[in-house]
Amino acid sequence: MDKRIVVTRTVPEAAVAVLREAGSVHVCTQDGPLSPAELREAVRGAHAVVTMLHDRVDAELVEAAGPQLEVVANVAVGYDNVDVPAVTERGVVVTNTPGVLVDATADLTLGLLLMVTRRLAEGERLLRAREPWTFHLGFMLGSGLQGKTLGIVGLGGIGQAVARRARAFGMDVVYTGRRQAPAEVEAELGARRLPLEELLRTADVVSLHCPLTEQTRHLIDRDALAAMKPTAYLVNTSRGPVVDEKALAEALREGRIAGAALDVFEREPEVEPALLDLDNVVVVPHLGSATVETRTAMAELAARNVAAVLAGEEPITPVR
Ligand code: GLV
Ligand code: GLV
Repeated sequence: MDKRIVVTRTVPEAAVAVLREAGSVHVCTQDGPLSPAELREAVRGAHAVVTMLHDRVDAELVEAAGPQLEVVANVAVGYDNVDVPAVTERGVVVTNTPGVLVDATADLTLGLLLMVTRRLAEGERLLRAREPWTFHLGFMLGSGLQGKTLGIVGLGGIGQAVARRARAFGMDVVYTGRRQAPAEVEAELGARRLPLEELLRTADVVSLHCPLTEQTRHLIDRDALAAMKPTAYLVNTSRGPVVDEKALAEALREGRIAGAALDVFEREPEVEPALLDLDNVVVVPHLGSATVETRTAMAELAARNVAAVLAGEEPITPVR
C-alpha cells in the first residue's frame, strides 16, 4: 500500500515531484492556513505530514493522524510551532529546513536595516502620497552605518551571514548567545560576545536571530528596550513573540529608540495596530526566506526528509 503524504498548503512543484516518488501525495490547496480542526481532519491516516510554520503540531495532531505516522517535515528553519518532545516521544521524526534559507534571510535583514536607518519606506510613502518635496541638505536624514555597532542576538547560521554582510557595510559586530561561537567564527567576523544587557546598551542596531523558545519569548521587553540607546534601531526577522510588541510600540512612540524594522509579528498575521501609525517603523509580511530559489530549496529539503524517513533511512535535517 502506498504511503499517504499530506502537505498542509501548496508547495513548489519540485517538492511535490520528490514526494510522489515516496508515496501518494495529498496537497491541501485551500487559500489560508488550515484551522486546527481542519488540520486534524487533513492528516488522518497520514504516514508523513509536510507542515508550514503556522500549523500547530502537537500530541493531539499526532493522535489524530494515527499510529502509522512516521514523520512531520516542517518547511521552516524555526519549529516553535511543533511540540517536539510530544511528537518525538510518540516515535515520530521531526525535521526542519536549516541552511538553505540563511542567505535569503540575511539579505532581507540588511534590506530592512537599510530601510529603517535610511527612512526608505517613509520616503516612498511621501512620494506615493504625491506630497511636494525638494532636495535640501536637511531633508529626510537617516543614520549611517559605517563605524556603528551591530548587536546580533543569536549567532547561528543566519546571524553569522548577517554579520558578514554588516562588516561589508563597515559595521562592528558584537553578539549574544547561549554559547560562545567557535574562535574562527569570532575571528572572521571580528565579533565579541557580550551579555544581552551590555549588547543592548552598546549596539546602534540590534538584530534578532534566535529561535523562539520559552527563554526567548519577550526577550525584548520593556526593560530591554529601555536599555537600548535612544538612537538605536531594532530589526526582527526571527519570530514575532521574541519582542513584546506593545512595549515596542510604546518605546517607538515615545522616541526611546530611533526605529524598528519587522518581518515577523507577535500575533501573526495580525500586526499591532499601534505600530502602523508610526513613521519610524518598517513592516513587511514575513518575507525572510521569500525568494523563488529559497522557497523551492526549503520545500525540496522537507520533501527529501520525508522520502528518507519513509524509505527507512536517516532524515537529512532532523530536529532533536
Ligand atoms: C521562516 O520563518 C523559517 O523559520 O523558515
Ligand atoms: C539558521 O540559523 C540556519 O542554520 O539555518
